[in-house]
Amino acid sequence: MVAQRVRDIEISGIRRMFEAAPPGAVNLGLGEPDFEPPAIVIRALVSAVHHKMNHYGPSAGLTALREKIADRYRAIDPDVGRENVIITAGGSEGLMACALALYDPGDEVLVPDPGFVLYAPHARIAGATPVAYSLAEEKGFLPDLDELERRVTPSTRAIVVNSPSNPTGGVFPKSVVERLLAFADRHDLTVVSDEVYDEMVYEGHHVSFAGKGDRAVVVNSFSKMFAMTGWRLGFLVAPRALAVEINKVHYHLVACPSTPAQAAVLAGLGALHEATAAMRTEFQARRELIVRELNVMPGMRCVPPAGAFYAFPRFTWPVTAYAAAGDLLKRGLITTPGDAFGRLGARHLRLSFAASRPDLRRGLGILQEYAAEMHGRRSRA
Ligand SMILES: Cc1ncc(COP(=O)(O)O)c(C=O)c1O
Repeated sequence: MVAQRVRDIEISGIRRMFEAAPPGAVNLGLGEPDFEPPAIVIRALVSAVHHKMNHYGPSAGLTALREKIADRYRAIDPDVGRENVIITAGGSEGLMACALALYDPGDEVLVPDPGFVLYAPHARIAGATPVAYSLAEEKGFLPDLDELERRVTPSTRAIVVNSPSNPTGGVFPKSVVERLLAFADRHDLTVVSDEVYDEMVYEGHHVSFAGKGDRAVVVNSFSKMFAMTGWRLGFLVAPRALAVEINKVHYHLVACPSTPAQAAVLAGLGALHEATAAMRTEFQARRELIVRELNVMPGMRCVPPAGAFYAFPRFTWPVTAYAAAGDLLKRGLITTPGDAFGRLGARHLRLSFAASRPDLRRGLGILQEYAAEMHGRRSRA
């Protein structure tokens, strides 16, 4: 028999849909840019492999890469140095390392609802209890500070935040970041800030939690910014003393991050700005397309996402989100049911517009037909 913590893990709604999909289905389910890493990065990977960079490296990552990441954050906080940085096996491992380093059994952890599928299971795996706080559509997908005050208890250890958000696309303005930090100060909480979409903002601008007091751990990733989800490389920036502790767990999770992947990213960091600018321009155009199309579908309404690359429309059809996503899957379209992200995701679907324009058009065609049928059913009911 396996351990209780494993029995408690549910397969994420995203993966479930992906794995049940018929061949040839349009995939608007996964957050996977349809771009490739910049040519310089690919060349550098090949060169690294040919030049014997195939061995273990330091567990916190290559010093030169940590230094470069620290540079990126020095504009926000001049005191950030490589000691604050750990190179991880993607944002996923960074988040898990934070959970294991920070949460004790009996602790409570505030997690967003709707929120990314890893936060609550990570808290549970660490023996802690996730406590949901709302990001309601009516409130612009922003947290309600009064509600947070009601949810916090003496057992609360941390709050997980995610701006730009998966799945809502919400982006926290500076005033919200400041209020959340003041809230964390008041209750002595660590802020685990998942900023993997920081380069993908279409309205307003990204405000990092980095360097604002010694409260926040920022988790980030090369997956989306370099379109290299399969390379499994990310990083986190933490207060120095905490970085030492997180690194202990990180060592036990991965020993060290991939050496050739780090060498390649290091060589390509100069191309980052250009690569993300090109993706952002394309995603912005797809965002206009998908929001426009969704908002003319019967029984569907979509708030334009300010960041990330997901549309999170709400529907009024007489079905649950799981049933709707299941029906769409049979018709050849992979989406993610909103309730995979929490209670407030009910009656929402999440559609990734990181997929190519032809895929997007095909997917929207399938959804349009389904919406018309479901809406007719509702009118007759
Ligand atoms: C909000 C958020 N955080 C973290 C991740 C993890 O990404 P990775 O492990 O590929 O860096 C994802 C991936 O979809 C995400 O959407």
